[in-house]
Amino acid sequence: MHFPNLNEAKIRSSKKVEVITAKNIKSETHKGEKYFLKTYGCQMNVHDSEEIKAILENLGFTETKVLEESNIVVLNTCAIRENAHDKVFGFLGRVKHLKREKPELIVCVGGCMPQQDSVAKLLKDKYPYVDIVFGTHNINELGTMILNHHDTQEIEVYSIEGNVYEGIKYARDSKISAWVNIMYGCDKFCTYCIVPFTRGRERSREMSDILNEVDQLVKDGYQEITLLGQNVNAYGQDLKLGYDFGTLLEKVALTGIPRIRFVTSHPWNFTDEMINIIAKYDNVMPYIHLPLQSGSSSILRLMGRRYTKEEYLNLFTKIKENIPGVSITTDIIVGFPNETEEDFQDTLEVVKKCQFDGAFTFIYSPREGTPAAKIKDNVSLEVKEERLQRLNKLINEHSLMHNKEYLDKTVKVLITGPSEKGENKVCGYTETMKLVNIEDANEDIGKIINVKITEAKSFSLDGKKEIFINN
Ligand code: 5AD
Ligand code: SF4
Repeated sequence: MHFPNLNEAKIRSSKKVEVITAKNIKSETHKGEKYFLKTYGCQMNVHDSEEIKAILENLGFTETKVLEESNIVVLNTCAIRENAHDKVFGFLGRVKHLKREKPELIVCVGGCMPQQDSVAKLLKDKYPYVDIVFGTHNINELGTMILNHHDTQEIEVYSIEGNVYEGIKYARDSKISAWVNIMYGCDKFCTYCIVPFTRGRERSREMSDILNEVDQLVKDGYQEITLLGQNVNAYGQDLKLGYDFGTLLEKVALTGIPRIRFVTSHPWNFTDEMINIIAKYDNVMPYIHLPLQSGSSSILRLMGRRYTKEEYLNLFTKIKENIPGVSITTDIIVGFPNETEEDFQDTLEVVKKCQFDGAFTFIYSPREGTPAAKIKDNVSLEVKEERLQRLNKLINEHSLMHNKEYLDKTVKVLITGPSEKGENKVCGYTETMKLVNIEDANEDIGKIINVKITEAKSFSLDGKKEIFINN
């Protein structure tokens, strides 16, 4: 048993990052058995689940989408807000029933939640039917943990981790678009955020390792990659090798992969050079997710965001002016402790000025162990909910407005797969990350095609494949 400790996780050691070769255990022990994997949270977790899949498949398991059919259940969890916790514990209720009928079922809980000591303790004390508990730093050990598992509950979660794994095998969900980690962890310590505790200190992958991975994806026919990091702008700073995110982005652009995206960009260290590189290369998509969090400078200070309302607006304007046709989305938290109506008005003002293409909006959720969780709050949930509604109304108006700008225009869409909107439809994304549903283009999955936009809704577009006739 190895328990996590939030206080230890806060310590950023000066130990050099070790590059560890990932284990790639192959065994037929579980041949013929099935796994059920459920992923909660952000893209980082979605990508981690691609590693978990590869580990399980290497042990002989095949995937099932039916919980009752499974021999092993793996929940890859998220800790960012309380409702993420609630969903996992709710699902564990269903798993408990199944385990009663099927005692040989192996139940695993991993990812961000167990990185919190309180969750690991709760799983130990109240969820004895959970067999294996692992964290974000030892995903690569999951195969060994499963092979060594007997009857007792095994909890193995590291608090501080300074390592980077190379040679990880992924069972990627898509053959068209791939995630590529460029760095792990976060050192920003925004006062509301649990991520620096659950994901550890900032560790960048060496540029050559990233480029080798991208080259292989190009060879495998991938059309798009998304560079992943909690804060991609900080890429390279910890390595002290003289290169940064701008340098990396340029080198990735030169691999020739048709589309490059990246998430997430913190407004704090977004350099002019990065803006120029995004503008310069056609295969770097003109789409930036730029979390605002709040439009009030005093709340931003309490959040530890390191920029003011004015600085955000200046950066936003600079990006809009320098990257033609760029779309910008954001994250906003309402109801940070003691947020006044005036503070909230500041947020609305920034939203009105920026007219974001889209936004993820959240009610503040206190996370145990973070500095903000200690602030006494005087704003009722009712007020917070009402602010969220007002904000969402405005955000949705802007999304619809931007989508309408596409009407009757022809845009390039990378077709990623079948659409949820009907049998004969496929879907894909514009360069600016707008979801488009298209009829009669089944044979174009995996291709970038010209699409004429015929209808604009708040959250998606409809379009028709444009067919060129050469006379
Ligand atoms: N409460 C509400 N929202 C949060 N986020 C991060 N931590 C919290 C929290 N404690 C939001 C931020 C971040 C996004 C991924 O989740 O907006 O950008
Ligand atoms: Fe959390 Fe802030 Fe780091 Fe983003 S930059 S992961 S909000 S601490």
